[in-house]
Amino acid sequence: MTIKIRPETVADRKAIWNVNCVAFESNAEADLVDALRAGGDASLSLVAEVDDQIVGHIMFSTLQIFTTTGTMTALSLAPMAVLPGHQRRGIGSQLIVAGLDMCRQRGDLVVVVLGHPQFYPRFGFSAELAKSLESPFGGGEAWMALELVPDAMTGVTGRVEYAPPFGVLE
Ligand SMILES: CC(C)(COP(=O)(O)OP(=O)(O)OC[C@H]1O[C@@H](n2cnc3c(N)ncnc32)[C@H](O)[C@@H]1OP(=O)(O)O)[C@@H](O)C(=O)NCCC(=O)NCCS
Repeated sequence: MTIKIRPETVADRKAIWNVNCVAFESNAEADLVDALRAGGDASLSLVAEVDDQIVGHIMFSTLQIFTTTGTMTALSLAPMAVLPGHQRRGIGSQLIVAGLDMCRQRGDLVVVVLGHPQFYPRFGFSAELAKSLESPFGGGEAWMALELVPDAMTGVTGRVEYAPPFGVLE
């Protein structure tokens, strides 16, 4: 099986909506992707293709961290989806690794995620690192952060504000 990871194009939007809808068994995340894109908050959106069919998608959106000394821009990894028939074959992992590489290369500093505590640490996400960040959704061990640049989080303590479309999921 050859998996191709590439940035989304306009022609992919319907397929991306479908992947999110089917994987989450709801329209909520599919609509969130559309709203993030429409609002200019989608920082990076990648698709995974197998046999020219889009089977996976990942989005990174911008968010703000309000600290006592100023505001820092970071990224949220969400949502991410792989069609049920293609799950557990490493496609989600490839989307994450490719996405983080691209974000790192263009100079992004920090990524946060609210997700499976067994899954995201394998890519470097840490619940310990996220303890200085106040999540609007709570999360406990599911609330994790990753430094794309060493020590990017050093001294950063504050409140995280997601892009407005995430409000609909609160
Ligand atoms: C999460 C998701 C994108 C992973 O895609 P994938 O292609 O199956 O991922 P990979 O094959 O690279 O890795 C599989 C890992 O995902 C993790 N995982 C997937 N679904 C999980 C779940 N519901 N609970 C806990 N871990 C889960 C497991 O740790 C699994 O690792 P393992 O096979 O070593 O046990 C996919 O399962 C999916 O679309 N799920 C529904 C939507 C969702 O929950 N998205 C994430 C939240 S934004």
